[in-house]
Amino acid sequence: MVNSSLPSDGILRLDAAGTTLLIGIGGVVPSLLYWGRALPLTASLDGVERAAQRPVYHNSVDEDVPLTLLPQQGLGFFGQPALEGSRDGLDSITDIELVEFQQSDGRLLFKLADEIALLSVDIELILDAQTGVLSQRTTVRNDGKAPYDIAWCAAGAWALPWRAREVLSLEGRWSREFQERRVSLSLGRYVRENRKGRTSHDTFPGIILGTKGFGETGGEVWGCHLGWSGNHHMVAETLSDGGCQVQLGEQLSPGEVRLSPDETYTTPWVYGAYSDAGLNGLTDRFHTYVRDRLVDWPGGAMKPRPVIVNTWEAVYFSHDLDRLAALADKAAAVGAERFVLDDGWFGGELSGRDDDTTSLGDWQIDHRKWPNGLHPLIDHVRDLGMEFGLWVEPEMISPHSDLYQAHPDWALHVPDRRRPTGRNQLVLDLTLPAAFDHVWQALDNLLKSHDIAYLKWDMNRDLAPIASAGVPVQSAQTSAVYALIDRLRAAHPSVEIESCASGGSRADYGALARAHRIWTSDCNDAHERQRIQRGAARFLPLCVLGCHIGPDPAHTTGGRDRLDFRAVTALFGHMGLELNLLELDDDELEEIAHVIAVHKQHRSLLHAGQYVRLEDDLEPGRMGHGVVAQDRGEALYALAQLDSPPMTISPPVRLVGLSSDRSYRVRFALPIPMGAQANTPALKAMANPDGIVLSGAVLTNVGLQLPTLWPRSAVLLHLQAVD
Ligand code: DGJ
Repeated sequence: MVNSSLPSDGILRLDAAGTTLLIGIGGVVPSLLYWGRALPLTASLDGVERAAQRPVYHNSVDEDVPLTLLPQQGLGFFGQPALEGSRDGLDSITDIELVEFQQSDGRLLFKLADEIALLSVDIELILDAQTGVLSQRTTVRNDGKAPYDIAWCAAGAWALPWRAREVLSLEGRWSREFQERRVSLSLGRYVRENRKGRTSHDTFPGIILGTKGFGETGGEVWGCHLGWSGNHHMVAETLSDGGCQVQLGEQLSPGEVRLSPDETYTTPWVYGAYSDAGLNGLTDRFHTYVRDRLVDWPGGAMKPRPVIVNTWEAVYFSHDLDRLAALADKAAAVGAERFVLDDGWFGGELSGRDDDTTSLGDWQIDHRKWPNGLHPLIDHVRDLGMEFGLWVEPEMISPHSDLYQAHPDWALHVPDRRRPTGRNQLVLDLTLPAAFDHVWQALDNLLKSHDIAYLKWDMNRDLAPIASAGVPVQSAQTSAVYALIDRLRAAHPSVEIESCASGGSRADYGALARAHRIWTSDCNDAHERQRIQRGAARFLPLCVLGCHIGPDPAHTTGGRDRLDFRAVTALFGHMGLELNLLELDDDELEEIAHVIAVHKQHRSLLHAGQYVRLEDDLEPGRMGHGVVAQDRGEALYALAQLDSPPMTISPPVRLVGLSSDRSYRVRFALPIPMGAQANTPALKAMANPDGIVLSGAVLTNVGLQLPTLWPRSAVLLHLQAVD
């Protein structure tokens, strides 16, 4: 970056992929004047800042204090400040001013300082050229001689236009993550925060704001996401003076960030995107960004996502070579490409892992279950042509373990206070170098001595207390987890990692900068999964979303679904199987093999195409989505009937994302499900390879009549351009 001189119009602009940002630097602190659809590069920006100047209103301070990239308290701004802290009770009222800025391709760095409060702040902004995704982080430095305590520092504080009045956020619980919630903003604050120490099932660190009634294909929307796997705080605020802002950052504990002289605190990255084409446009930007820019794929590019068989719901802790080798045989026979041995393979002197009450921290092979180690199974899996993956939960320590007996102080704790367990386990204090080294050595040895291509990195409890010998360490523990993964990835660059935390409790861009897959949910009930995956896919692309065909009945809900519905549901993601193949009959195995073949046939489309949701004008109980090839030459759509249809004949479905100028051959990509009323000539023809041919304009605008479906069933449509 180079030190830049002030542009003649006083406005800095960033442009990329149909998005423009205008930042005014005529005031004390830079202001985000505009974040929206692209403005012509030739447009004169003269006078923009002046035109945006607000009048002073009655009964206010006499100089207007508008929203900036760093709103500050105490000098006339009355909303949520971007920085809150103090130095022994002083210096909480700041007047941090722009000192200089640097600009290079798509990047801006603002350097600000307050010579009285003795603080410096750096704000870094990047607008990604390919996707238009904005990322920002903020660094605060203590320039004083006494420590400065930070209570809050927004990674990004972004002013939004008044018309962004509606909010979509994602919330849930274990086994029911990513549920969509819509609210309208009113005066004041809409706050979502997480204090659970991991990203949490309860609240996804992302928020979408948009114009009234925004939908899948229409409306202006701004999406924001904090890429952080610890605590978070998000606020959307409407002020009485008409200002609107959104802030995202780490939720800090009191006393957690105390800066010594010259010490800095840097926030996680916050990501944002704008779309004037509704949620589908926003999702496309985020998906492309994660797939092409964020995830660090071994070898530099995403390889086809291998179909997984995971052993958890097949055998739980009952590990036995013969049984697992037989399971691997079936896995290979149905077309799986990666076999993952889940929890239960390890232990120590004190005990082996026969249930969830012991052994975390003792990362030795359990020789009671594996007398010859894991090699016989790994060799068998490799001989079958599959990759081998292994489950680990490195951040944990069981009270009933050799490790805890030797090092009780290696658990997060407050001296002389209770140590609440969660899933019978405590959390290893990774801020302690010795504890960090112990687990690093264990993982490194494991990977050095075995042919392991993939780690399912689990994390099964909320953190309480998040303290290292009484000192709050939410931030430091999360950074230590990142450091551990980073070190492991540097030492074993070909190994892929799945970020699992009791399902989707660690699904965020901080994790995805290090991992290659998210375990979306412990719930494999297809009916529930439809909603879970739909919410997750707002910010996370299908190529990283672990989606498995589960057993019937589902182990977390008791819900029963036919195999075809479970299969269509699992197909839209990084597909896998989470059931005991040894219990299935030949017909079921054949059906699974067929679905896996269909998935593989369309995998590059599913994982590299543009994901679209069908409009929300589908009647209640129906849900549809699809993936359209980037060149619009091909598409795959699934329409799921979740609840009983309210009408005898379900209305036609408009297939969005297609080219209006092309015609498509439409056919069912899997047999139509039981109960489907498919008795018209067109629907009958769609069951044949020749299908029917319709123009994209008709399919998108007039729609396609599909069969009325039984609840808990779905149809899969394949479209191929014929011109
Ligand atoms: C929770 C995960 O989400 C499951 O898939 C499984 O790996 C268990 N932990 C194992 O303990």
